[in-house]
Amino acid sequence: MARVLSDPETMRFYPAPFDRAGVENWIARNRYRYAKDGHGLWAMILKSTGELIGDCGLTVQDVDGANEVEIGYHVRRDHWGQGLATEAARACRDFGFSRYADRLVSIIRPENRPSRRVAEKIGMNVWKEVMRANLPHLVYSIRKDQTQQR
Ligand SMILES: CC(C)(COP(=O)(O)OP(=O)(O)OC[C@H]1O[C@@H](n2cnc3c(N)ncnc32)[C@H](O)[C@@H]1OP(=O)(O)O)[C@@H](O)C(=O)NCCC(=O)NCCS
Repeated sequence: MARVLSDPETMRFYPAPFDRAGVENWIARNRYRYAKDGHGLWAMILKSTGELIGDCGLTVQDVDGANEVEIGYHVRRDHWGQGLATEAARACRDFGFSRYADRLVSIIRPENRPSRRVAEKIGMNVWKEVMRANLPHLVYSIRKDQTQQR
């Protein structure tokens, strides 16, 4: 995960790339989420080699005071542009709808075009705009009854 989360370009929409302690904390937080919520960000494994190349999964996020289940994704830079985030996000969407929520969101900085494209390709649309960490973010969403044919 350090090869993903400590990469300055991958983390350009975050306050800063993570140092070693930040990466360890990220993993610990997700293990806590598995225990508490039953889900979190999971390892993204390349099927052809078994290598970990990122994460994708479902986390609980506060949106305007309400808990929403978010699909999130981070891919190692040398694997960008192959449809891997879209494949993983689509699988997490279907798994999320089968077990955890009737609406899923993705909270994305407007400048983050690749992330917005992934959200759009799995059928999400902009629901509203929120401020997080003093920065505007788009909240993409999709409801369970909107997933046919995507
Ligand atoms: C967002 C991210 C996970 C996408 O991973 P990926 O495996 O490359 O995604 P995909 O290949 O499935 O799809 C990427 C889409 O973004 C598009 N894209 C890539 N760079 C782009 C750019 N600069 N402007 C517009 N679209 C862009 C691709 O063309 C593709 O869309 P298309 O299929 O319509 O052509 C990856 O860029 C990443 O890890 N970014 C940093 C972490 C991050 O920002 N995570 C999301 C936080 S909200």
